[in-house]
Amino acid sequence: MASSIGSLLFVIWGTLLLSRSMRAKDNQHATQLLYMYNIFTDNVAILGHTIRSMNVSSQVDCFRHCAKVCGCVAFQLTGWKCELLDADKDVVIGELVTRPGTALYTMNQESTQVNQSCVNGCCRSKPCLNGGTCEEKCSDVREPYTCTCSKYYKGKRCEQFYPQVKSCLGVKIFRPGSRSGVYELVISDNKTVQSYCDFTSEAGKAWTLIESFSLSNKDIYKNKPFYHDFPRNENNFTWDDFRVSYQALVNIRDISTHWRVTCTFPSGLSYADYARSSLNETDLLTFVNQDKCQRYEYVSVRGINCTDCKGMLVQRDSQHMHTDSSWSGRNGCQWNPGAGAISGEDNFGFYAVTNPKHRCTVNSSSTTQWWLGSQL
Ligand SMILES: *[C@@H]1O[C@H](CO)[C@@H](O)[C@H](O)[C@H]1NC(C)=O
Ligand SMILES: *[C@@H]1O[C@H](CO)[C@@H](O)[C@H](O)[C@H]1NC(C)=O
Ligand SMILES: *[C@@H]1O[C@H](CO)[C@@H](O)[C@H](O)[C@H]1NC(C)=O
Ligand SMILES: *[C@@H]1O[C@H](CO)[C@@H](O)[C@H](O)[C@H]1NC(C)=O
Ligand SMILES: *[C@@H]1O[C@H](CO)[C@@H](O)[C@H](O)[C@H]1NC(C)=O
Ligand SMILES: *[C@@H]1O[C@H](CO)[C@@H](O)[C@H](O)[C@H]1NC(C)=O
Ligand SMILES: *[C@@H]1O[C@H](CO)[C@@H](O)[C@H](O)[C@H]1NC(C)=O
Repeated sequence: MASSIGSLLFVIWGTLLLSRSMRAKDNQHATQLLYMYNIFTDNVAILGHTIRSMNVSSQVDCFRHCAKVCGCVAFQLTGWKCELLDADKDVVIGELVTRPGTALYTMNQESTQVNQSCVNGCCRSKPCLNGGTCEEKCSDVREPYTCTCSKYYKGKRCEQFYPQVKSCLGVKIFRPGSRSGVYELVISDNKTVQSYCDFTSEAGKAWTLIESFSLSNKDIYKNKPFYHDFPRNENNFTWDDFRVSYQALVNIRDISTHWRVTCTFPSGLSYADYARSSLNETDLLTFVNQDKCQRYEYVSVRGINCTDCKGMLVQRDSQHMHTDSSWSGRNGCQWNPGAGAISGEDNFGFYAVTNPKHRCTVNSSSTTQWWLGSQL
């Protein structure tokens, strides 16, 4: 969307650009810069991008001001009121308006420095954050400086915390103040995933989300055990349809001690309809089982819960990990959520048969989350 607006504006821009141009030498800087400006058009203005405004005595005067200000890429004149702008063709629809009496000019920096070094004053305001180092650039007026970020940051201004860790536990260790939210995790050299880190719902624990889907998407996940590589929106986080790749699962599993499954987590954690188990008991990447009883640290379905006891757990080549309420008791497992169950009722996944009394399957927008985590 943004890029199509951009290219549309660029076309308009290109056709309206007139041939008149002026050149000026900016001798204020240690480096010689040659700028020119092109008349864009009369009766047009850009809103919301004014860095500074002043009264001037001529167009050239306004141009000279722009050439001296870091990040000024265009200017507009209304009478002798000069406005310096930090955007030209990158503006979005709505910011470029018809305004009788205003003329808009775009800056073009034509040639670069005379000496090897470039000085434009852009680093004086210390634009690079979190210990990044700033370097002034004279080759493109739109990019008057670049930041080289310190180890755990990235972004144009090093504004983004980028710990380069494999799981949420790492995020919390590198920056203890981190809040729950979506983080980028590094899976291998050039591969990252965006997942949700939960540091708050259970005190002292860091949970990394490995899968989340809404009931309306149940069939996408139905036949996908965790040992199948099945990434979904791995770099575009959504609660409705998300799973990390197998490689990410392996990396996160290797530094976790537990898994858990929650229902409709975005509206808050509840221990009604929830399960948690140690990876020592059940490693969800290797576990293949149809009807054995597995140990849970805690499990609850429709209010029937059990702590440190065995209940049914299923994962097969054609079946997502889940439990089946009506079978757990019949198989002689300690935890028996049979009372109130629908025959064949699936909980926490697979969902061939669903019960609206189970919080993961109330309606089509109910979601199921699977997590890997450990103690901080
Ligand atoms: C270019 O570099 C030389 C030597 O470093 C210096 O004397 C001169 O002033 C510089 N010129 C400009 C325009 O910065
Ligand atoms: C520019 O001139 C106008 C009137 O000529 C005046 O009202 C305004 O304060 C001036 N602005 C500046 C920044 O000097
Ligand atoms: C990672 O990307 C860089 C450049 O983008 C490339 O040179 C390098 O070979 C890549 N590494 C792997 C493991 O793909
Ligand atoms: C990201 O997900 C949203 C819906 O959640 C979708 O509309 C969008 O196209 C996705 N973007 C990419 C790059 O996959
Ligand atoms: C898992 O097993 C390892 C090694 O046997 C042990 O050190 C660890 O305490 C166990 N963790 C849990 C949560 O049971
Ligand atoms: C667990 O079950 C007991 C009764 O067996 C009940 O009192 C308690 O509220 C249940 N806890 C949750 C979180 O459902
Ligand atoms: C699904 O249920 C939740 C609460 O249980 C409700 O807020 C939501 O509006 C329901 N959505 C639909 C599509 O019925």
